[in-house]
Amino acid sequence: MSLLDEIKSKAAARKKTIVLCEGEDKRVIEAAAQITREGIAKIVLIGNEAECKKIAPEVKLDGITLVDPLTSDKTAVYAKLLYEARKAKGMTEEQAAEQAKDRTMFGALMLKAGDVDGYVSGACHSTANTLRPGLQVVKTAAGIKTVSSCFIMIAPDNKNPYNPDGVAVFADCAINIEPTAEQLADIAVSSAKTARSIAGIEPRVAMLSFSTKGSGNDDKFTQTVPKVQQATVLAKAMAPELALDGEFQFDAAVAPEVGKLKAPDSKVAGHANVFVFPNINAGNIGYKIAQRFGGYMAIGPVCQGFAKPLNDLSRGCSVEDIVATVAVTALQAE
Ligand SMILES: CC(C)(COP(=O)(O)OP(=O)(O)OC[C@H]1O[C@@H](n2cnc3c(N)ncnc32)[C@H](O)[C@@H]1OP(=O)(O)O)[C@@H](O)C(=O)NCCC(=O)NCCS
Repeated sequence: MSLLDEIKSKAAARKKTIVLCEGEDKRVIEAAAQITREGIAKIVLIGNEAECKKIAPEVKLDGITLVDPLTSDKTAVYAKLLYEARKAKGMTEEQAAEQAKDRTMFGALMLKAGDVDGYVSGACHSTANTLRPGLQVVKTAAGIKTVSSCFIMIAPDNKNPYNPDGVAVFADCAINIEPTAEQLADIAVSSAKTARSIAGIEPRVAMLSFSTKGSGNDDKFTQTVPKVQQATVLAKAMAPELALDGEFQFDAAVAPEVGKLKAPDSKVAGHANVFVFPNINAGNIGYKIAQRFGGYMAIGPVCQGFAKPLNDLSRGCSVEDIVATVAVTALQAE
């Protein structure tokens, strides 16, 4: 069974309820029907029946709960919740009443209220518009200050000697542009959790750099080496039980012979399966190299660090991508 099939089947066993915020998108309506048919999750679709039937007349909506913020009796309740969450930031009750009618905000408020277990949106909204409601009202998990993302990278076969698990986690390739040392430490701890819960591997986390254990320095330039070194110290303090080390070049992280040579005392060097990149440039370029040159399949971006699971789709997503993201979200739910 492929990892993706495993994720779907584990999700089905959990019977979580996931809100899809974009009932105005045909792919989302089709995915909602497929997820319901396959029993992967219970779906709340934000939209209304007439609109869905017009956009996707051939799709059967049986078993899907449709909710329209413009007519729902929950909108007023959610507006109060939004006001309470944002009044310290200057939001008025009138603004909260207006914003609660927005479909993505309504979905985030459903999640905050505990009426659904997870949130998926972004098929027709930007990353910022998809994640902002979650950042504003759902906030971060206990002990974590940074929402981040990772890709679960699945090897084309199991013959790569540098990735014996056949799966790896790359972070953060999509949200935090130039993370601080504190944010990198959060990204490392959250990625280890995702590696366990979604990728199904025991994490060995490498904090990546162009330097291994002080071999290089960029003091005159961007100072990423001391940043990654400090992040390593912070992450070890946050999760002392975690197999985590750095700073490592990629080869020192994955090749046992290089790891032994450059970081002989490290248990992670040469054996890492979770990779924390120093910034979004390195992470985004890195995962695309693995995809295009290495033939790896990338699942994600998977958002991590939220108090409750929210995930962002790419605007170019397919129906299958939406189904996979809902399954991942169901596995992230408590
Ligand atoms: C994550 C992101 C979407 C947030 O953008 P934003 O909505 O403009 O964020 P803001 O700075 O206005 O912050 C909104 C709130 O979220 C919080 N926030 C922002 N980023 C956060 C993060 N990574 N973790 C936790 N909280 C965060 C802010 O503190 C703020 O909270 P407050 O209003 O309660 O004070 C932004 O970092 C981003 O656009 N990242 C790059 C995305 C991208 O282009 N990716 C490429 C895809 S490959």
